[in-house]
Amino acid sequence: MDTGEQRTRRRNVRERETSARGISPNLALDQLVARRQAAGESIVHLGFGESRLPVFPPLADRLAAGADRNAYGPVAGDHGVRAAVAGYFARRRLPTEAAQVLLAPGSKPLLLALQLVHPGDVLLPSPCWVTYGPQAKLAGKHAFGVPIPEECGGVPDPAALRDTIRVARGLGHDPRIVVLTSPDNPTGTYAPAHLVREICAVAEEEDLLLVSDEIYRDILHDPDAEFLSPAEVVPDRTIVVTGLSKSLALGGWRIGAARFPTTPAGERMRDDVASVASEVWSTLAGPMQSVAEYAFSEPPEIRDRLRDDARLHGTVAKAVYDIVIAAGALCRPPTGGFYVYPDFEPLRGELAGQGVTDGDSLQSRLIDHLGIAVLAGVHFGDDPKALRFRAATSMLYGRTRDEQRAAQRAMDPLSLPHVADALAGIEQGLTKLTG
Ligand SMILES: Cc1ncc(COP(=O)(O)O)c(C=O)c1O
Repeated sequence: MDTGEQRTRRRNVRERETSARGISPNLALDQLVARRQAAGESIVHLGFGESRLPVFPPLADRLAAGADRNAYGPVAGDHGVRAAVAGYFARRRLPTEAAQVLLAPGSKPLLLALQLVHPGDVLLPSPCWVTYGPQAKLAGKHAFGVPIPEECGGVPDPAALRDTIRVARGLGHDPRIVVLTSPDNPTGTYAPAHLVREICAVAEEEDLLLVSDEIYRDILHDPDAEFLSPAEVVPDRTIVVTGLSKSLALGGWRIGAARFPTTPAGERMRDDVASVASEVWSTLAGPMQSVAEYAFSEPPEIRDRLRDDARLHGTVAKAVYDIVIAAGALCRPPTGGFYVYPDFEPLRGELAGQGVTDGDSLQSRLIDHLGIAVLAGVHFGDDPKALRFRAATSMLYGRTRDEQRAAQRAMDPLSLPHVADALAGIEQGLTKLTG
């Protein structure tokens, strides 16, 4: 039986429109803000998903000590670094052998390689990180956005996931991969265990591969938060991808890692990704392997740094959340990572008076007239009409290294003048936007 509701759903299941051309919107906005700031404009930059914190000095020591490592070495990484990553996963209830691990220059190339080697189309939470859609396109796949549930982002709503699979198959497509992100970019939330289990059940029923992007896993705002990886529930069909770009603010050093299942299919996938690696990036740079081996071993000073920085990320994200809520937006309370994703739908009437009618006009109004740089939801695959944007709160720690260090050290980072001023700038901008 084809009910009206089913017909509406089918109309709503549309392939994500995504361009793999041009520079990623995240990077493009960052460059635009840099140009405008250099020209003297005052902008509170919340538009770039980077942890603006200094390099932890022991990491720089490892990098210098590794400078002599100029041989190519094994594609997947040396045994030492793979064993360190295996230990990292084992401490997170994921028993792992070094042979299951593959290192790469960032998690981005690993995520693309996975899409290149695994057949079938891709299901993405909507909204989701800007890169998954264009990567699917580069891999010649169709990508389908699936709405996220009320309580968090980074995972598709389980019922909507089932529907989308059915409709996509009905249209002749072959969805076989789901990408999950927890904690999530853009919503700054992590998925509760019951939702992870539900998604895993759908994956079992529908024979799907789960790619679990856990690059923000060590940035849970509540140190006692119960995080469940899908790899704990359905280990044979989950690849976990992680890296040091976010938790240790090493985006420019490009260190990523993937953990593959121990099944024959998992081993085949690892070998196929290694084959792509051997033709594209060869291996993770030797000095970076020294850094990664040290960081993934998690000596006490690294654990302390992760804990302290997670607290800073949580404090500042919560402060921005309070501001957007006070401005009248809806927003999921941030629980992980360093983002908030407000929805100004309740203020659509007021915003229309300022010519703001969709995500792009909201983004333009904020940067051009109110000095706030954010990235509209449409760039994350959200509805172009939605009045939503992502604010990357990790950009608020300061523009100089001294300011950033002060934010890391402060008992109350919100009381530091440079942080307080930036927060006041956001508050004033949003008051003008909505008032
Ligand atoms: C969800 C997510 N995955 C992966 C990445 C990229 O990480 P890497 O620097 O390891 O390529 C980002 C960076 O913004 C991200 O937000």
